[in-house]
Amino acid sequence: MLLRDIWKSYTLSGVAVSVLKGVNMTAYRGEVVGIHGPSGSGKTTLLKIIAGLERPDKGEVIVDGYNLNMLDEYGLALYRNNVCSYIPQDFGIVDAMTTYENVEIPLLLAGVSAEVRRRKVVEMLDYVGLRDKASMRVGRLSGGEKQRVAIARALVTTPSVLLADEPTASLDWTNAIKVAELFLNIKKDFGTTVIIVTHDARLLEYVDRSMNLFDGSLKQISSPKL
Ligand SMILES: Nc1ncnc2c1ncn2[C@@H]1O[C@H](COP(=O)(O)OP(=O)(O)O)[C@@H](O)[C@H]1O
Ligand SMILES: [Mg+2]
Repeated sequence: MLLRDIWKSYTLSGVAVSVLKGVNMTAYRGEVVGIHGPSGSGKTTLLKIIAGLERPDKGEVIVDGYNLNMLDEYGLALYRNNVCSYIPQDFGIVDAMTTYENVEIPLLLAGVSAEVRRRKVVEMLDYVGLRDKASMRVGRLSGGEKQRVAIARALVTTPSVLLADEPTASLDWTNAIKVAELFLNIKKDFGTTVIIVTHDARLLEYVDRSMNLFDGSLKQISSPKL
């Protein structure tokens, strides 16, 4: 995954505020990258741009040979459902639906047959350890379990890139470590590139490479372990 000179500003009450000021980054296949930055530094904005949910004012995002500037809204929807999964900070899962139904959503959107859907959803629920909660409404699950539902749903389409926005923000430290370890397993088992943004510097001990988002650009704070 390649980010080349990404710029983004927002206009608030007529005043333009630059959030990203020339972000460059390469993430290798099967690497877990942690991006640390304080609240308001532009972490969510950056992930949304990589996910194709927001357009940069300038710059290029290239993932798996797709240059997002070349994709229209329909192309971006396919990209999000097949190539690059984004897990929002609030998980983005549907509380009124069951664990199973939440994980099935991307496969329904992709037009996958009922039989293959069933096999893949069960496989994912086993993988994240939620098979026994398959028929429970996710509104009743704990924070750690909700995060795992969100991860299973993001992973069920076997994307090349998985983006996680503050995945441990609402978890205690024991559950936070479990989630970090799950991302490392995902990279090993599926070859997924995982990008985690966090304001919790402790999480950086668990990633292959860490970067700092500061004053609108990214600085590497550790070399790749690969
Ligand atoms: N849609 C928007 N409209 C206006 N300002 C925004 C919008 N989204 C984010 N911002 C501003 O951009 C800055 C970065 O926000 P964000 O990317 O959410 O940072 P972080 O995730 O690091 O906390 C903040 O000052 C925020 O208020
Ligand atoms: Mg944020």
